[in-house]
Amino acid sequence: MTVESAKPASAASAVRELREPPLAGGAMPLLGHGLRLARDPLDFFSRLRDHGDVVRLQLGPKPVYAVTTPELTGAVALSPDYIIAGPLWESLESLLGRQGVATANGALHRRQRRTIQPAFRLDAIPGYGPVMEEEAHALVERWRSLDVIDATRESFRVAVRIAARCLMGGTYTDDRAERICAALATLFSGMYQRMVIPLGPLYRLPFPANRAFNRALADLHLLVDEIIADRRASGRKPDDLLTALLKAEDDNGDPIGEQEIHDQVIAIVTPGSETVGSTLMSLLQVLADHPDHADRIRDEVAKVVGDRPVAFADIEKLRHTRNVVIETLRLRPAVWILTRRAVADTELGGYRIPAGADIVYSPYAIQRDPRSFDAHAEFDPDRWLPERAKEVPKYAMSPFSVGNRKCPSDHFSMAELTLLTAAMASAYRFEQAPGSDDAPRIGITLRPRRLLVRALPR
Ligand code: HEM
Repeated sequence: MTVESAKPASAASAVRELREPPLAGGAMPLLGHGLRLARDPLDFFSRLRDHGDVVRLQLGPKPVYAVTTPELTGAVALSPDYIIAGPLWESLESLLGRQGVATANGALHRRQRRTIQPAFRLDAIPGYGPVMEEEAHALVERWRSLDVIDATRESFRVAVRIAARCLMGGTYTDDRAERICAALATLFSGMYQRMVIPLGPLYRLPFPANRAFNRALADLHLLVDEIIADRRASGRKPDDLLTALLKAEDDNGDPIGEQEIHDQVIAIVTPGSETVGSTLMSLLQVLADHPDHADRIRDEVAKVVGDRPVAFADIEKLRHTRNVVIETLRLRPAVWILTRRAVADTELGGYRIPAGADIVYSPYAIQRDPRSFDAHAEFDPDRWLPERAKEVPKYAMSPFSVGNRKCPSDHFSMAELTLLTAAMASAYRFEQAPGSDDAPRIGITLRPRRLLVRALPR
């Protein structure tokens, strides 16, 4: 099966002849699959592969199709017939706006990708090296004075600081990074609740949780306006993402509107902080749970770097550290669920997918498929050694996705996560502290629920 198995609507009548995907087992009268999905989404998605390559879910009035093989998730991600829309995105719209790169479709999305892409190109990443190094070393120093590290707070803090400082430049973002962190923490938990329990009007009532959510949303929007206004007032035009957005033109050569600039900043900084923060938490859990790999990282850093602090330029040589990051992204992908909407009648894996249907798939389930990975549940960074990595089927490991919506920040994120992991593991051994709860917390992203660790100096 290849990605060509997503057929365009030109063969519309042939598509109409095709069968509908089978209903996944376990649907309950009235509730459909909703209860099982709500109870344990990771297990629910992991078991769907036993019901077929494409299966129908009963979750509400509209058909929802789950795709369970690497090949077909690749087909969905690469086909123009499936766009960004559906319940996940609708729940994110109040945060991300409608004019930002993460939610736009078609020509607007293509133009926006062209604007932001230079900031994330492979050759642009070394320019962020000094900020990444500074933040990694400051983090390690800061932990010397902390008895117990609240991994949620620390991981999100450094993720926001690196994204804000690298992409929007300037020291003025330092204290604002703290406010962005606070706002995002409130928003992300509220956002997930709105996605899984879509009780629209109830969220407009003046309950304390709703008020806190609205305050956080207003503060985030205000912060972004302040950052943009400050940059304009400073007259500075450094070669960074914010300058690119302020200079961007639409297809007629006119400057893009204020709303679009605003939505773009939010649509880039928000996913950037949440995903990296969640992954860093998972990495801290891995370092605590797998001291053998933490020691191997320490040894690798010592060999490559010697006595000086680890630097951005070392990243390329830190092979094992990088493989630990990749294996963490395999078993605990921050983006664990993705959705699309079909804009035409299409064929997928031999089945008919009607226009308007929602498609869902889980990188978590795909990346733990025993058909793609030997000892699939085992944490084994060496599976990413070149001679073994080539055995991994196409699209079986795509934590940054593929196609036109692929994360623009894959190189940026891998550099940042590798450097942070090297700095953390060479300075400390980690162990979970009493009260730590490392069960997966399933929200918009996947991360440990409330990880508390002790950092024991090496
Ligand atoms: C999109 C993963 C870090 C900005 C995506 C998508 C994935 C992803 C899977 C595709 C979503 C889809 O197909 O619907 C990750 C992971 C990260 C990470 C695992 C880190 C561990 C970042 C960072 C930034 C960023 C640091 C920015 C600073 C974006 C943007 C999009 C996106 C703007 C939307 C792209 C588009 O729709 O064209 N990310 N991401 N991400 N990511 Fe990331």
